[in-house]
Amino acid sequence: MDKILVTRSSMPPIDEFIDEIKELWDSHWLTNMGVKHKQFQSELRSYLGVKNIELFTNGHMALELTLQALGLGDVSKSSDYEVITTPYTFASTTHAIVRNGLKPVFCDIKQDNYTIDEDKIEALITDKTVAIMPVHVYGNICNIEKINDIAQKHNLKVIYDAAHSFGERYKGVKVGTFGDVSCFSFHATKVFNTIEGGAACFNDDSLGQRLYDLKNFGIHDAETVAAVGSNAKMNEFCASMGICNLRHISEEISKRKKVDERYRQHLEKIDGIRLNPVDKDTEYNYAYFPIVIDEDKFGKSRDDVYEKLVSKDIIPRKYFYPLVNDFDCYKDKYDSSKTPVAKYVSDRVLALPIYAGLELSIVDDICEILGEC
Ligand SMILES: Cc1ncc(COP(=O)(O)O)c(C=O)c1O
Repeated sequence: MDKILVTRSSMPPIDEFIDEIKELWDSHWLTNMGVKHKQFQSELRSYLGVKNIELFTNGHMALELTLQALGLGDVSKSSDYEVITTPYTFASTTHAIVRNGLKPVFCDIKQDNYTIDEDKIEALITDKTVAIMPVHVYGNICNIEKINDIAQKHNLKVIYDAAHSFGERYKGVKVGTFGDVSCFSFHATKVFNTIEGGAACFNDDSLGQRLYDLKNFGIHDAETVAAVGSNAKMNEFCASMGICNLRHISEEISKRKKVDERYRQHLEKIDGIRLNPVDKDTEYNYAYFPIVIDEDKFGKSRDDVYEKLVSKDIIPRKYFYPLVNDFDCYKDKYDSSKTPVAKYVSDRVLALPIYAGLELSIVDDICEILGEC
C-alpha cells in the first residue's frame, strides 16, 4: 500500500485541464492578468458571493499585501503598531504581520473550536493596536459578531485569515464577506486549489487599486508606474486550474463530508479523543480532521499515536505544533505559557488524513489502528 498522507491534491480530469490551457498555446499569453485570470476572478467572485476580489500567487501574499494595502505598518522599518492574532495557526499569518513591520500580539484560543478567544481580545488592546487578525482554523468560524463589535468600538481593522474556510457559510452568509478583508489560500493542499494561489476579498472599492498596485509593481500602463509594488500576480496556468477545480468543488466537499462522517462513526465514543466540533450554524468544507488526544483518558499520547500511524504508513500531521509563539524565530520575544489553551491543544492535536478520494476502507483501517492504541 502507498503511504497515506494527510491530504492529496484535488485535480480535475486531465482532458478538462488540457482543453482549458489549449488557448494559452494559441495566445502565448501566460501571465499578466490574461483571459484566464479575468475569467477565474469573475467566477470566483460569484461563487464566494463577495463584492471585490483580487487574485494572488498564493495565500501568504494575499495576507501580506492586504496588511500593506491597508496602510497599517511600515514595511521599511519596524513600527510599534500592534495586531492581535492567534498563535494557533500556520506560520504565514504571523509572518505577514511581522513582514509589514507590525508587532503580533498573541491572544489565546477557545478550547471548544480553537479559534481566537473573543473574550480575551479587549484586554490586549492598547493605543498601539491597529487591527485584529483571526483565523477560521480548520474551517471553524470565529465569533465574527463579537469581533466585529470590538473592532467597531476601538476603530480597528479586521483581516480574516480564511485559508481553511473556502466555500463555507456561517448562518447562511458566505465566509469571504466577513471583516474588512478575508484572505483565502488555494495551495495544493487546500480543499480548493489552483496549484499555488490565493485571494483577498473586500467591500471597500478603494482597496482594489492598492492591492492591484502591490501585486503588479504599481504599473498602470506602459509609461506609468504609480506605486512601489511587488510581483504577486496569479499566472494563467494557475487560473486555468482554478477554473477547472471550481466546476468540481461541491462534489469534492460532499466526498470529504463522507470521510468526516465515517471517522465520526468510529471515533465519537472513544474516551480521550476529542473531535472537531460541529456547529449547527456552519456549512463546513471538511478541510481537516483534527483530533485532540487526552493521554490520561486515552492511555497513549499524541506522539505515541503519531508514531504508531507512521509505522503503518499513515502520515498524519501535528497541525498546529509547535505554536507560532514557540517558533525559533519568535520564541525569544514571546512566552507561549501566556496562551495556555493554545499550548494545551497544540501539544495534543493530530490532523488525520482527509481528502475527497480517500477510501472509506482506509478510514476504517486508520480508526482500527487508533483502537489498537
Ligand atoms: C492558516 C493559513 N494561513 C495562510 C496560509 C498561506 O497560504 P499559502 O500556502 O497559499 O501561501 C496557509 C496555508 O498554507 C494557512 O494554512
